[in-house]
Amino acid sequence: MEPVIVVEDLVKRYGRVVALKGLSFKVYRGEIYGLLGPNGAGKTTTIRAVAGALKPTRGRVLVLGMDSWRMDFEVRKHIGIVPELPSLYNELTVRDNLYYIARIRGLSRNKAGERINTVAETLALKEFLDRRYGKLSKGLKRRADIAAAIIHDPEILLLDEPTSGVDPLRASSIRELVKKLARTGKTIILSSHYIDEAMNLSSRVLLLYKGTRVVEGEPSYLARILGLGKEVRIYTAEPLSNEQAGKIRELIESSGYASKIRVDREVIVAVTRETVGFLEEVLPRIKELGVKVRDLEILPPSWEMVFKGYIQPLEEGGCGPCPLAGTGV
Ligand SMILES: Nc1ncnc2c1ncn2[C@@H]1O[C@H](COP(=O)(O)OP(=O)(O)OP(=O)(O)O)[C@@H](O)[C@H]1O
Ligand SMILES: [Mg+2]
Repeated sequence: MEPVIVVEDLVKRYGRVVALKGLSFKVYRGEIYGLLGPNGAGKTTTIRAVAGALKPTRGRVLVLGMDSWRMDFEVRKHIGIVPELPSLYNELTVRDNLYYIARIRGLSRNKAGERINTVAETLALKEFLDRRYGKLSKGLKRRADIAAAIIHDPEILLLDEPTSGVDPLRASSIRELVKKLARTGKTIILSSHYIDEAMNLSSRVLLLYKGTRVVEGEPSYLARILGLGKEVRIYTAEPLSNEQAGKIRELIESSGYASKIRVDREVIVAVTRETVGFLEEVLPRIKELGVKVRDLEILPPSWEMVFKGYIQPLEEGGCGPCPLAGTGV
């Protein structure tokens, strides 16, 4: 299968800052390819380079076989981009913004009107078409940004943190929408600094750090090698005795549910990929030890987990083919 997007040895320097240090990856038709990385990893730089919006210092990006920098005008006909920051005109209504962009993308007046109705339907934006973009909530702005990106029905979508700053409910509706677009055959690159989001949405994920690929693969593979899981925190009503703490640790270890365990005086922490099983099987047994539970918290995978469990050891390990070793840039 021919890849839709090929990123080859991409280097981008901004003066002294080297934002990308020789990045390569391929994206195939119908994929949601997740670029996952903390702040400053190089996600936006990668997306802008794919869109042909910045000149690579070295290397190149091919979109449908075309060099995206040299043929940016042609390439953009096939790409819809949701930039990191809202980018439509605040003073214009959603409809006028969409119309303006549709016309720039070469749609006729009639076709533009038709597409506005179609995308408004897809994005549940109909009742907001005549509101000014600047007056919309963040969630609605994001939806309007996505509408603008797909107005010319491009086959490729580049979504730079589409749910950033959006409340959890709206964020989840945006995620559903991204899945829906992928089901219609679009090829999508999605950047995110939410580990859970990238893992749940993407067919493959590239973990990017300091402009370098750390690891790439299917979410299940990444979750395994990064030791990701949800963090279950059990707060006890009374401090645990040393004996209790020892027994709890043993019990959790032997259950096979947790990849990491920490038992402090008043909190039991376990990282697990099977939260339900853990809670159903292990929690009752903890209670049988006479432990009173005061509260319970389940936290998504954190960057701390990834840094401590994977990135830091790589950086410190001085390993031979270490992805984070100098790349000669
Ligand atoms: N125009 C610019 N001039 C100088 N440095 C830049 C510029 N744009 C980005 N950088 C730097 O390049 C590096 C990568 O930035 P980039 O915006 O691509 O990261 P990101 O992964 O998108 O981060 P975030 O999660 O904060 O959006 C950072 O160190 C950033 O400070
Ligand atoms: Mg960014």
